[in-house]
Amino acid sequence: MQILTIQNKPFDQPIYVTRPILPSLDRITEKLREIWDSKWLTNNGPQHCLLENQLKNILKVPYLSLFNNGTIALIIACQSLRLTGEVITTPFTFPATPHVLTWNNIKPIFCDIDPVTMNIDADKIESMITPQTSAILGVHVYGTPCDVVKIQEIADKYGLKVIYDAAHAFGVEIDGMGIGNFGDISMMSFHATKLFHTVEGGALIFKESNLKTRIDFLKNFGIKNEEEVVMPGINGKMNEIQAAIGLVVLDYIEDERNKRKVLVDTYKECLKDVPGIKLLPKDKIFSKSYQYFVIRIEEEMFGRSRNYVYQKLKEYNVFTRKYFSPLCSNYPCYKQLPSASITNLPVANIVAQQVLSLPLYGDLTPDEIEKICSILLEIK
Ligand SMILES: Cc1ncc(COP(=O)(O)O)c(C=O)c1O
Repeated sequence: MQILTIQNKPFDQPIYVTRPILPSLDRITEKLREIWDSKWLTNNGPQHCLLENQLKNILKVPYLSLFNNGTIALIIACQSLRLTGEVITTPFTFPATPHVLTWNNIKPIFCDIDPVTMNIDADKIESMITPQTSAILGVHVYGTPCDVVKIQEIADKYGLKVIYDAAHAFGVEIDGMGIGNFGDISMMSFHATKLFHTVEGGALIFKESNLKTRIDFLKNFGIKNEEEVVMPGINGKMNEIQAAIGLVVLDYIEDERNKRKVLVDTYKECLKDVPGIKLLPKDKIFSKSYQYFVIRIEEEMFGRSRNYVYQKLKEYNVFTRKYFSPLCSNYPCYKQLPSASITNLPVANIVAQQVLSLPLYGDLTPDEIEKICSILLEIK
């Protein structure tokens, strides 16, 4: 594919890193009418039940529980497994991941990341286990699965639980198995920035039937029935409007994914031979989420830093994101932890200076992607 070398003009309209699927208003109104007719707005209504069942099938998991957002879901995942003490996790993630541990009075222990997948480095987990460790919390960053086999081996050896933050991994499968079948519990986020969304929302997915009962109590104040409140729960329920929007959005997912695939292929073709730009590794074993298109800018070879490129792209009306920079281990609330030291996290500290999420959503055209790549070369 030929990249234009003429001087690029800024885009007329801002190009953001993502844009949510917005179904036709007619379809939404139709669904809202069903809710108005039912007069049931929240608490396990018909839309909620329908969405839970459909997602279970789509994600190929035995149990699923919907939530008002992914963060509350992850807080409840820790509660439901009765985690305590310390949990080993990655610093290269969205703030919600370590914060849910803090909200559970658990100390996050940061483990360095793999230089290729940018996920928690399974080879480094064992050395971080102490008598206080109760679990490993991995993140399938950008939808690339963690080393689920090795992590499970370590967990089995030390009697630890495994939770995955699968916020970016909607629909990802490893060898045809839904990603939610690995570990004890996985969390999905259905925030508007995600491929599948319910405006705000999330889910826990898992294999044990007894967890379903406990999780559903925990997200509804611990209420068992009108006479019994059996545990200190919280309000984590997804409402009927969120669920209804999700049901409509589901119909658009395949088309959106196909469009994003074409755009990702265009990016790859344009950027594959650019010195200093590294693309995510290829892997045939797992399917892609098409949640983000991320590059790594190696300053020495590219000639410009990631931060320079990020700023400069704004002049062309292209708004990228530095997912995930700053590293969670460098936040004021965590940087005093011994595991947050730069010497403990050399790879994560380098990667966080390199990553840049480029715009990816179905309404973009391959021509626009080519222009973004051409601008990148111009900046270089
Ligand atoms: C990796 C990761 N974990 C957790 C979350 C939090 O999910 P939510 O916004 O649904 O609470 C997000 C993003 O939103 C995320 O990207």
